[in-house]
Amino acid sequence: MTTARHLVVFTGSGISAESGIKTFRASDGLWEDHPVEEVATPQGWQRDPQRVLTFYDQRREQIRSAQPNAAHRALASLEQAGFKVTVITQNIDDLHERAGSSDVIHLHGEILNARSSADERMRYPLVKGGIALGDLCDKGSQLRPDVVWFGEAVPLFEEACELASQADFLLVVGTSLAVMPAASLLSYIDYDTPCALVDPDADALSPPGVLAINATAGEGVPVLVERWKREGALTLP
Ligand code: APR
Repeated sequence: MTTARHLVVFTGSGISAESGIKTFRASDGLWEDHPVEEVATPQGWQRDPQRVLTFYDQRREQIRSAQPNAAHRALASLEQAGFKVTVITQNIDDLHERAGSSDVIHLHGEILNARSSADERMRYPLVKGGIALGDLCDKGSQLRPDVVWFGEAVPLFEEACELASQADFLLVVGTSLAVMPAASLLSYIDYDTPCALVDPDADALSPPGVLAINATAGEGVPVLVERWKREGALTLP
């Protein structure tokens, strides 16, 4: 009988889709209306910071009014049931935390923080409102969203790889695995560590060796979590 109880979950925007937050690459996705290079690159920020701030202010308001869904809640409940659950998310929303997950790493930053444009370690929680041109950090530089843009380093990637290498099971949810280095996280697990992808498009997206579960997050994740609670271990379905 296995006693595997450390779950590492790697999530993308698909886990928040049923909370009403748009994914990125679908035909009606976020990048359709907002060109990536204009709103999510250092060059776009140089060209038109107000456009970038407005884009993230809108995203932030949507996220504040969204609620965690059944997938976020199921993962939090697994932690409450005594499993060790580490969430590594590409998402900049706080829905995992609001559902009750206590160990969450945001690879691409957190929209509910502002940060200095001169020193990425200087962060300021945005309890309400957004960021305006002229809002400055304590060193006098313009504040920007605390998100990782295309072309920028992913400071938490190494830590995430180390965590993935300790997993008893890697559960991937709602990501097209299109963006590096985040997507390469899957290659850091031990060769015999089970891995599954829950995504409506899982059949097409799953790399070799990854179990494809073609379901939405809100359908697929609770079923897995109930199985693991029943069995007391992270078994493959
Ligand atoms: N449940 C689960 N998955 C879903 C659902 C759902 N209800 N709806 C859609 N999906 C899946 C899609 O099938 C797709 O595979 O979510 C995935 C979303 O993929 P992308 O739009 O590429 O988003 P993501 O993988 O999160 O993007 C990664 O790219 O733009 C950057 O920084 C941004 O963090 C983001 C990164």
